[in-house]
Amino acid sequence: MKEFSGRTAVVTGGGTGMGRELVRQLVAAGCNVAMCDLSAQTMAETRSLCEAARLPQGLRITTHVADVADEPQVQRFRNEVAAQQQTDRIHLLFNNAGIGGGGSMIADSREAWERTFNICWGGVYRCTRAFLPMLQQADEGHIVNTSSVNGFWASVGPRVSHTAYCAAKFAVKGFTEALITDLRMHAPHVRCSVVMPGHIGTSIVGNSRKIHTGNESDTLSPAEIARARAAAALAGVDVAAMSDADIQAMVLARARHFLEDAPTTAAEAATIILDGVRAERWRILVGKDAHRLDELVRQTPERAYDLDFFEAFAAEAGWRLGSRAAR
Ligand SMILES: NC(=O)c1ccc[n+]([C@@H]2O[C@H](COP(=O)([O-])OP(=O)(O)OC[C@H]3O[C@@H](n4cnc5c(N)ncnc54)[C@H](O)[C@@H]3O)[C@@H](O)[C@H]2O)c1
Repeated sequence: MKEFSGRTAVVTGGGTGMGRELVRQLVAAGCNVAMCDLSAQTMAETRSLCEAARLPQGLRITTHVADVADEPQVQRFRNEVAAQQQTDRIHLLFNNAGIGGGGSMIADSREAWERTFNICWGGVYRCTRAFLPMLQQADEGHIVNTSSVNGFWASVGPRVSHTAYCAAKFAVKGFTEALITDLRMHAPHVRCSVVMPGHIGTSIVGNSRKIHTGNESDTLSPAEIARARAAAALAGVDVAAMSDADIQAMVLARARHFLEDAPTTAAEAATIILDGVRAERWRILVGKDAHRLDELVRQTPERAYDLDFFEAFAAEAGWRLGSRAAR
């Protein structure tokens, strides 16, 4: 799809991060956008940012509170999109919503593991199913599924358990690659792309914590402090002399570093994604770190989970993720 003007796009997780920037850039290109998120407030902020930049005449931006992991909510979202955008068709579906966490099969609860998996994989699957008929109604359509470098490399370093997220992101990549043939056979006017970002500067670390715990505040509960303390100890941090306030500060600093120290901003990522869609590329790597990891994993797959593989890559890419300080 070369042109977004006059089209209709659906973006999941449009409240913050890459989803917000996708919405802003689609709107700036003259595209109608329907977004969903768990938070009405962050979507309202996204909408205000679009309006402050002056909307093209007659353009529709609609916001829908919906959990992509919940089938009835996804169906309600689809029905609201049809009603409020006054259409039976959409042209673009960005399955972007995602969270981290629940990484360990041993140290984390089953509930946390499945919450991450059901959002990162289940959300992509459910929204694709729900919106496919509307994509098929359009003269051309494009499904853009956000995986990650964790869709081809199941690690953020040797000191962090990351099983739920990686399992989900591998699923998103496999699903999207198989969809290429399925669409070519049964709906050739609809295409798809898998997006594999490296480290992008967003608030995903803090947002994921809030979604998992239901605690909207930046102040950690005693149970969260205990969990963070145990995780830090496992990652090799000397927590014995740290007060609860120190643990709280460490968790907030980790989220801040993730946002501020990334090699690629969310706005840059959105531009790369939209350029990839315009160029009709099915695989969209985002960031120099993602390109480099892709090369390294292909060159030496058997070494991909060795400590020196990670240390060499992290030093070259300037990654602080997965280091003791970042954990
Ligand atoms: N930031 C990175 O470094 C990075 C790297 C690779 C892949 N990704 C992926 O990119 C996508 C966007 O992440 P981001 O970094 O912009 O994070 P973000 O936290 O800034 O944005 C994600 C948005 O999705 C929403 N969301 C979460 N669960 C939801 C649910 N169940 N239903 C509806 N909305 C939900 C959140 O509220 C949030 O607004 C995610 O799929 C993430 O896994 C991020």
